[in-house]
Amino acid sequence: MCGIIGYIGKREALPILLEGLKRLEYRGYDSAGVCVSAQGLTTVRSPGKIKNLEEKLAGRSLSASVGIGHTRWATHGPPVEKNTHPHADCHGRLSLVHNGIIENYSELRRKLESQGHVFSSDTDTETLAHLIEQLLSDGASDLPSAVRAALKQVRGTYGLAVISQDYPDVIVVARLGSPIVLGIGDGESFVASDASAILGHTRRVVFLDDGEMATLTGDGYQVRSLDDSPIQKTPEEVDWSDEQAQKNGQPHFMLKEMLEQPDVVRNSLRGRLDLGDGLAVLGGLRDVADRLRQIDRLIIVACGSAYYAGLVGEYMIEANAGVPVEVELGSEFRYRKPIITPQTAVLAISQSGETADTLAALREAKMKGALTLGIVNAVGSTIARETDAGVYNHAGPEVGVASTKAFVSQLTVLALLTLFLGRQRQMSVTYGNKLAQELLHLPDMIQKILDQRQNIELLAKRWAGASDMLYLGRNYLAPIAFEGALKLKEVSYIHAEGYAAGEMKHGPIALIDPGFPCLVMCPEDSLYEKTKSNIQELKARGGPIIALTTEDNQEVSQFADDVIFMSKTIEMLQPILSVIPLQLFAYYVAVSKGFDPDKPRNLAKSVTVE
Ligand code: F6R
Repeated sequence: MCGIIGYIGKREALPILLEGLKRLEYRGYDSAGVCVSAQGLTTVRSPGKIKNLEEKLAGRSLSASVGIGHTRWATHGPPVEKNTHPHADCHGRLSLVHNGIIENYSELRRKLESQGHVFSSDTDTETLAHLIEQLLSDGASDLPSAVRAALKQVRGTYGLAVISQDYPDVIVVARLGSPIVLGIGDGESFVASDASAILGHTRRVVFLDDGEMATLTGDGYQVRSLDDSPIQKTPEEVDWSDEQAQKNGQPHFMLKEMLEQPDVVRNSLRGRLDLGDGLAVLGGLRDVADRLRQIDRLIIVACGSAYYAGLVGEYMIEANAGVPVEVELGSEFRYRKPIITPQTAVLAISQSGETADTLAALREAKMKGALTLGIVNAVGSTIARETDAGVYNHAGPEVGVASTKAFVSQLTVLALLTLFLGRQRQMSVTYGNKLAQELLHLPDMIQKILDQRQNIELLAKRWAGASDMLYLGRNYLAPIAFEGALKLKEVSYIHAEGYAAGEMKHGPIALIDPGFPCLVMCPEDSLYEKTKSNIQELKARGGPIIALTTEDNQEVSQFADDVIFMSKTIEMLQPILSVIPLQLFAYYVAVSKGFDPDKPRNLAKSVTVE
């Protein structure tokens, strides 16, 4: 995934940029480049590893004390030199590096080309360079004003650093949905997408928030909002090791990534809701929108947690968009004789975009003539490239082996897809709007659950001695029971089963005794009374109960041993909230048993073999 580094001060910029890029290598990339500003800008870029870039730089004297650098993970356009960052305007007077995605880049590019701008790459990022150039020539008073005006025209996400030979004493940076941290040194300043790139030079840092811009000079920094109001931000001292920096100061990637989930949902939703018309605006589906109006069946293919997300999607789409859905394990689909007609769409869900079984299922579907779609997090991955159309998660890199934030983002995108397909069919504008509004409330509701994590930790410690657990939920929450059980198995090695609550009496109830705890999701929803009866059945057999219910419910505490509360949302979105306590519970059980949840035994992050 892409990484940004920038330096302005008195020292030679180039070695600092190269060292920063190397520290960002852990994020994965396929090309790298730098641009330094002395008398004019000099850019050197190379596909492949940073050592290729160093070889290109060898023997060149690029003495400069201002510069920016980037590691790119291909999104728009293959990993070749012309697509590698930094990108320049027509005359090479300004240069920028960008993480994120400019969703409306084709419209902007068409307009700029009609104004005479000549593009040299396939990237969305280059559009920004030309747009800033245009605004400067239209009379923007300085570089920060031009960048600010450009960002107001942009839809999408960005972490951005811009330099210009006409403004040699500043680096202008901005953040929306993609992290930016400033490093404050003595007579020098740094910018990076990740603190680990700069901690070797300074430990005084300022984390930008979404919607903030900063102007960096050798003497310090100024932060302003996109509306140009000043914002006071005091640097904080971080005493993190390199590894801790990568984890944002948290003990594990799994916890760091769970804590990111409010932002992850915001990023998955960003720019994708039209509140007036109650629509989901999914740019990646625009070209196939007419075909999607014609489909009479959707088959979702995925593995593991992504498969469980697909099961939630089945409930969402069938009930709210009226499209029949089947969900298939990638590993099964290709060996069956799936019935595919010209009206069938096949949707692959994959965080990595490289899972061999999901990819094979997708290729099989494509070969049989299905319209293929993807919900993928890793931009530019094989599944993303091979599908006809799709929606990116924008969840950022997921390092924790057990999927957490990617899963929550998959559910969020499935809700958007439900809105998209539903509004093409019978869903009313009123319901579409309600769904859109409710989606926008989710990040705060997730935050409320994360804020209870100390209670969940205590509870996890209490139950960590169990050797088995049963997870139950109904309707939208049945697949969340499967996912909750999978999380616990993966990181704590406790045997856990997930069941649809109504199915429990058809077998698993035989296992229940006072040593077999059950985690039951029973929000006050349309099936609340039924789930309550299941709890009573478990109690009658002496089974201890941990209940997850909606806030203000007083009743469940009367018959559960422990209760976790969450906000109430519309039924279709309740799974997005319900999975969060289950993730935290699994994490804290693992930690209290002394296991490292980031390195579960026998598991790999990306399963690229059959
Ligand atoms: C579970 C987990 C796995 C993945 C599965 C699919 O925590 O992470 O079950 O969900 O291997 O991976 P992707 O989504 O990369 O296709």
